[in-house]
Amino acid sequence: MRIIILICRQFGFLILLSVLIPCIHAEPQKKNSGKYVGSEKCGECHHHYYHGWKTTLHSRQEQEVIIEGPDKNVLGDFSSKDPDLTFTLDDVDLLVGSRLKQRYAKKIGNDYYMLPAQWNVKTKEWVAYNPKNDWWTKGDIYPKEWNRRPTSKLCEGCHTTGFNIETKIPSERNISCESCHGPGSLHVEKKGEGHIINPVKLSSERGNMVCFQCHMSGRPPEGEFEKYAWPVGYKPGDDFNKYWVYARPTGENIYELWADGFAHKNRVQGNTFIQSKMYSNRLRCFTCHDPHGSRYSSFTVKSGKNNSLCLSCHGENSPHAVFKINLSEHTHHKADSSGSRCIECHMPKTGKNAVRWDARDHSFTFISPLSTIRFGTPNGCNNCHTHTDKTPEWAFNEVIKWKFD
Ligand code: HEC
Ligand code: HEC
Ligand code: HEC
Ligand code: HEC
Ligand code: HEC
Ligand code: HEC
Ligand code: HEC
Ligand code: HEC
Repeated sequence: MRIIILICRQFGFLILLSVLIPCIHAEPQKKNSGKYVGSEKCGECHHHYYHGWKTTLHSRQEQEVIIEGPDKNVLGDFSSKDPDLTFTLDDVDLLVGSRLKQRYAKKIGNDYYMLPAQWNVKTKEWVAYNPKNDWWTKGDIYPKEWNRRPTSKLCEGCHTTGFNIETKIPSERNISCESCHGPGSLHVEKKGEGHIINPVKLSSERGNMVCFQCHMSGRPPEGEFEKYAWPVGYKPGDDFNKYWVYARPTGENIYELWADGFAHKNRVQGNTFIQSKMYSNRLRCFTCHDPHGSRYSSFTVKSGKNNSLCLSCHGENSPHAVFKINLSEHTHHKADSSGSRCIECHMPKTGKNAVRWDARDHSFTFISPLSTIRFGTPNGCNNCHTHTDKTPEWAFNEVIKWKFD
């Protein structure tokens, strides 16, 4: 009898497990079908989120040209005699970007094409824009003439929302609410009941994918959409891996990443974050960034510049504390020194966005001066200690002293 009960218990347990396991693995939210309605519609009920989002650069993607007045958005100096500037403002139908660089598009037929010069915001200069190192510039996938590189294939999926590859018209020329929440017509019809993706309710893996769709360099798998430079068909909630093969460290310096995996380019936040223990500990991009705006640069939830963001989890007496009494214990710089800022050592500027090096790494690993010696990867120490006698070898020795003193 006992044995029978035991067996039943055992089986009952197995049956329970077989029911539970798929539940645990199933995504709590299903992909939502429906149509795109546009951010303004969402704003009718979610004012706070709408106005917050408006303060982010996601809401200022592809813009019509405004030359004068308070809304002026052309940053480039079109009166310049720079030889790289080979077109005039009259050629420009659309502009992209404002933070570090601005590019200019001309409409030909029903597609847009990027004109061959870009304006770098910080250095206030024109530089030629003629991509040579992206995968799609290899072979004759897209010839080098600017007017043979349509943005519908090369850019739009990441710079607009709901881009229709047949009509070449997006629902919106922005990274809008629906880029991250999926098309919202059913949600709106039902007056806000369900039918919308909330990324925080997805598994952390799928939640991060919502940002990876644009912030993780790579290329599509072989097949129907292999000549697009963006993940055609992906919607929030989907398994991004079905749409994208992301660039991984190879042990050699490649276009996207340094040999040891750190950011060599902009928009590799996903490629690098995925290497961090924080990723495997289920942090998400939006643990640190609030896509509906914040008062800090890059809409971080707390300031990344004065350490308050990092110290909210790594401060004294927290589970992941990096010091017991004083920050200097960890940083070996005075607590109020710029040399005590987490992000300068743990996410130094190692990648090229407009100029080299102006894009921050997102693997959060301390980048050792040894990486510089081996591969040329910039390291935090020498980004500040730039005197010629302060070589990577010098910095490496200092770090060794800290570790073994
Ligand atoms: C870049 C991606 C992104 C964009 C753009 C975006 N959101 Fe979100 N939204 C998120 C993420 C991620 C969350 C979950 C945040 C969290 O709770 O940590 C979220 C949460 C929300 C929530 C639920 C909040 C709660 O606490 O229940 C609402 C409502 C919302 N967003 C509305 C909007 C609206 C309206 C817009 C456009 C005006 C918008 N979002 C634009 C990513 C985005
Ligand atoms: C007619 C009003 C209305 C419109 C329009 C509307 N919403 Fe909502 N939304 C709501 C209501 C009501 C809720 C539920 C709030 C609650 O009870 O938490 C909600 C909830 C949400 C949530 C949280 C869902 C969750 O599971 O946590 C998100 C995200 C969201 N809306 C995004 C959007 C987006 C994106 C749009 C535009 C496509 C939009 N909403 C348009 C009324 C609206
Ligand atoms: C559909 C594509 C797309 C999605 C989805 C997307 N982004 Fe972005 N993101 C962009 C583009 C394009 C820019 C460049 C904006 C600019 O500089 O004009 C950008 C810029 C940013 C910036 C820098 C803006 C600044 O003000 O410094 C942050 C931070 C950011 N994204 C975080 C996120 C996070 C977090 C998510 C996911 C919740 C996300 N993004 C989802 C395309 C996207
Ligand atoms: C796979 C997605 C993706 C594709 C494809 C893509 N971008 Fe971007 N782009 C981004 C993201 C994400 C950012 C911002 C993040 C960063 O810079 O690190 C960005 C940033 C930019 C910026 C800088 C914005 C600023 O304010 O400094 C410009 C300009 C730009 N992209 C133009 C283009 C053009 C032109 C194309 C096509 C030739 C293109 N992008 C293709 C995702 C993409
Ligand atoms: C929401 C909490 C949270 C925030 C905010 C946070 N961390 Fe972490 N961090 C963690 C957790 C959890 C771990 C994993 C600890 C472990 O596994 O030992 C971790 C691990 C790390 C590690 C060691 C793992 C590795 O991959 O090298 C570094 C370095 C780190 N964090 C730096 C930072 C920096 C820099 C910031 C600010 C930009 C920051 N963290 C913000 C929670 C956080
Ligand atoms: C002056 C440079 C510097 C600054 C500033 C700095 N760190 Fe570090 N951090 C290091 C070094 C060096 C290590 C040791 C790396 C190793 O052992 O490979 C380290 C290790 C860590 C680790 C443990 C990594 C692991 O592998 O377990 C965490 C977590 C961390 N730092 C978080 C922070 C936080 C949070 C801040 C800001 C309060 C910060 N650090 C500021 C240089 C710095
Ligand atoms: C542990 C916190 C943390 C996480 C997780 C995180 N970021 Fe960041 N991110 C930061 C901080 C801090 C900055 C610098 C903010 C500043 O300059 O004020 C930053 C900057 C950025 C920028 C501006 C890029 C640049 O080169 O200046 C972008 C874009 C961005 N993050 C996107 C993302 C995306 C996408 C993810 C997920 C793949 C992500 N972040 C995950 C903390 C984080
Ligand atoms: C964000 C800038 C910054 C970063 C990153 C930084 N430092 Fe410093 N460092 C300073 C400043 C400023 C001082 C001047 C004294 C002070 O404020 O503590 C200094 C002082 C020093 C000193 C003592 C004075 C000297 O020049 O001999 C040493 C040694 C040192 N840093 C080593 C390092 C090492 C090693 C790293 C990388 C792990 C590093 N620093 C990262 C800014 C930085």
